[in-house]
Amino acid sequence: MIKNSIELKHVFKKYQAPTSFFAPKKENPFVLQDINLKIAPGEFHIFLGRSGCGKSTLLNIIAGFLPKTSGQVLVNGHEVAAPGRDRGVVFQNADAAIFPWLTVYENVSYGLKMQHFSEKERTPIVNQSLKLVGLDQHANKYPYELSGGMKQRVQIARSISNDPDILILDEPFGALDAQTRRIMQDELIRIWQKTKKTILFVTHDIQEAAYLGQKISIFSPAPASNIYKTITVDYPYPRNVFSKDNEQLVTELNNYFPIGGR
Ligand SMILES: Nc1ncnc2c1ncn2[C@@H]1O[C@H](COP(=O)(O)OP(=O)(O)O)[C@@H](O)[C@H]1O
Ligand SMILES: [Mg+2]
Repeated sequence: MIKNSIELKHVFKKYQAPTSFFAPKKENPFVLQDINLKIAPGEFHIFLGRSGCGKSTLLNIIAGFLPKTSGQVLVNGHEVAAPGRDRGVVFQNADAAIFPWLTVYENVSYGLKMQHFSEKERTPIVNQSLKLVGLDQHANKYPYELSGGMKQRVQIARSISNDPDILILDEPFGALDAQTRRIMQDELIRIWQKTKKTILFVTHDIQEAAYLGQKISIFSPAPASNIYKTITVDYPYPRNVFSKDNEQLVTELNNYFPIGGR
């Protein structure tokens, strides 16, 4: 199996309802039902769907944070059993993900330290990661001194410092203002093109999916969501949001999410 690939075969997921003496056992519905997907090495792949359809659930299963109910999840041909260095994760809420008492440099260095990299080994990796995300001038700042976009850069640098094969991002720019979001989208494309990593990116934002995705997997509404289509977008980067291509793609994607839902 080729490096950096992800393969999902008949993946089902239901959460276990909490049980107690007073709340007798009841079966939850499936959140995800029969997900089948192949993500090729180096692909920029988007999961697009409404809130609550199970995008984060599937991402967390691939990241190894959550167990699936049944099916197979293969990363580089191996069944996922736990989180691993081959998969770096960036969360929507940077404040919950980075340590407020550590500087930018220390936040990025922390994971490597825990893996017993010596200071001499860590320094060039951390410096290179900070440079890649454009934070080299802010290494000694604390998170409270950073903007939302800069905090997401810290998370990305921290993931990249582990040199993962796959970068997994869960609505990473959802909390940013529109201008910063566009800057960060461009930055992510630049980082992807430079590092050639596989990117798995979750969003509920059609414009964002159209701007970023090479492949866009569209989730059906909850419950028992499925991927009902994966669209290939083959026009080049950087994309022009005012182009005819983009307009057509956004219109096509909008058709899958009618107002009022279904
Ligand atoms: N830990 C959990 N326990 C029970 N149900 C959950 C849990 N996490 C998520 N869910 C439910 O699973 C569904 C999908 O959630 P989620 O994966 O967060 O969707 P999305 O990321 O697409 O918004 C929702 O109905 C949500 O309430
Ligand atoms: Mg989510």
